[in-house]
Amino acid sequence: MFSSLQAQPADPILGLTVQFKADSNPHKLNLGPGIYQDEAGLTPVLGCVKAAEQHRVDSETTKAYINSAGSALFNKKITALNFGDHRVIHENRVRTVSTPGGTGALRIAGELIRTCRAGAAIWVSNPTWANHAGVFSAAGLQVRSYPYYDHDNKCLDFDNMMAALQQVPADDAVLLHASCHNPSGMDLSPAQWRQVAELAAKAGFLVVIDMAYQGFGAGLEEDAYGPRLVADTVDEMILCSSCSKNFGLYRERIGACSVIGSSAAAADIINSVLLPIVRVNYSMPPAHGAAIVETILDSAELTAQWHAELAQMRQRIGAMRQLLVQRLLAHGVTRDFSFITAQNGMFSFLGIDSEQVQRLQDEFSVYLVGSSRISIAAIAPDNVDYLAQSIASVL
Ligand code: LMR
Repeated sequence: MFSSLQAQPADPILGLTVQFKADSNPHKLNLGPGIYQDEAGLTPVLGCVKAAEQHRVDSETTKAYINSAGSALFNKKITALNFGDHRVIHENRVRTVSTPGGTGALRIAGELIRTCRAGAAIWVSNPTWANHAGVFSAAGLQVRSYPYYDHDNKCLDFDNMMAALQQVPADDAVLLHASCHNPSGMDLSPAQWRQVAELAAKAGFLVVIDMAYQGFGAGLEEDAYGPRLVADTVDEMILCSSCSKNFGLYRERIGACSVIGSSAAAADIINSVLLPIVRVNYSMPPAHGAAIVETILDSAELTAQWHAELAQMRQRIGAMRQLLVQRLLAHGVTRDFSFITAQNGMFSFLGIDSEQVQRLQDEFSVYLVGSSRISIAAIAPDNVDYLAQSIASVL
């Protein structure tokens, strides 16, 4: 059976951590995966999460199965977090299932689209998260791309993006990032969201939004602007969200897939198709992460604590964007890196070539994805000078 298998390269993001762990340089720095780290380089368990877990340990009475949709309370709370007090909720047009992480939500979304339209394509931004193409093609979709980031000018390539989206057939889907675009850090402005939403309504393609970083850009409400606007403008859409980053629940694998139908009755039919898709994939989602999130969101006190802890993570990343640009200048770098402070969330491209990326790794034990994407969330005051010096050396 297995003799015909060909060895595959390591995952471009996850493979870096394996190399990083094996590196004995005491100054080593892993700017690869999008994982929040505090100033001490730790990815802490949030205080609100610890409190919610304690509460669950004390109050949980059974580990019996829930069902394919997952916890109803989590689904309700996460839908409200994502959409706010939106009319699609009042109109009973949203159906949400808990999923194993945001990746699970994307896979379920992909399979739902394939079930509706065999042969459909999903259009993803160029560039996009390295795993998007794999997830959607594994779900049976064709994957196409539209221009998004202008590497030369370090900004959105919006005119070309719109020109490409105008060609997307009504039966296809278009993936957008809600905020904190991974990997570029460049987000659509409110006016640009409006143009994209209006085009979707006119052209008829399905908008699928990946919201993996709600709260890491400008704030919980601000980062949900795009999805809420699209939900206001079109009849149907899909929102895939993740609690990995904003609740720091990476390994618990908890996210959600919310599908909006054109009416409550249409949403019920969608739900009846969604549940068997879950059933044949993993039967039911894991419950622990959902239990933590629903406990936090169901308590005013824990929600306030979470907001404060999330704001701290967001502000630290923003401060590190500023500090990196300052320290690059201080180390004599004349190239303009100020674009880093105009971008959002965990990531930016340094904009160096693959040879320079490799030199950073080989000579300085600074690990980043080959595209030159860096995770700002791994930068801290006591490693920023080493990083700035290393970048200065390879430029
Ligand atoms: C990333 O882009 O680094 C994160 O989303 C982690 C991952 O799974 O790739």
